[in-house]
Amino acid sequence: MELSFEGIILRPWAFSDAFNLALIANNKKIADNIRDGLPNPYSLEDAREWLNQILPENNPPRFFAITLDKNLVGNIGIVAKTNIYRKNFEIGFFISEKFWGRGIATKAIKAVTAYSFRDFDIVRVYAEAFSDNIGSRRALEKAGFRLEATLKHNIIKNGIIKDSCIYAVLKDELKYQIT
Ligand SMILES: CC(C)(COP(=O)(O)OP(=O)(O)OC[C@H]1O[C@@H](n2cnc3c(N)ncnc32)[C@H](O)[C@@H]1OP(=O)(O)O)[C@@H](O)C(=O)NCCC(=O)NCCS
Repeated sequence: MELSFEGIILRPWAFSDAFNLALIANNKKIADNIRDGLPNPYSLEDAREWLNQILPENNPPRFFAITLDKNLVGNIGIVAKTNIYRKNFEIGFFISEKFWGRGIATKAIKAVTAYSFRDFDIVRVYAEAFSDNIGSRRALEKAGFRLEATLKHNIIKNGIIKDSCIYAVLKDELKYQIT
């Protein structure tokens, strides 16, 4: 299944993406802005290991390769929450640094959010950005997400205590769709 939206295509990851994934993810500016777990440096072996982990359960897809003109330019994924939070998805994403500032994250967020509400029985999609991650916050806002809360001293990243920002959009307020 592919999601085509405003000039980008989101497609499920494939094992053959390992090399290009490693090229993109081997970037400290990416690792510094997401949760711990993305190795830095990021090797081809790391890419293969991650793909081996997610691909067996990626149908229906929850982890998408973001592509522009057939080139791999990023990753976006949804995580289904459980228990009393089971009507929520959390999204996470990163874009190849070479393609920053071209609206790709905004489009990918919109595509995956519309897909989530179209294909899954959920009512809320949210993301958590470090408060100093202006690019991510701006992309979420442009995709129609609302700042719900700033959680003070909620995280520690690279040994530094930071605030995080919860952005969310509700199913009944979404202003775009995907076909
Ligand atoms: C955050 C990230 C996903 C944004 O991707 P992108 O494709 O460049 O995002 P977009 O182009 O859709 O939107 C970014 C917006 O932030 C703005 N922006 C980026 N850095 C900025 C800064 N330091 N100050 C002000 N605005 C900034 C851009 O100008 C753009 O807004 P505009 O279209 O109004 O000009 C990308 O930088 C990235 O992968 N970062 C590392 C990983 C990460 O942070 N992931 C998200 C975790 S929550």
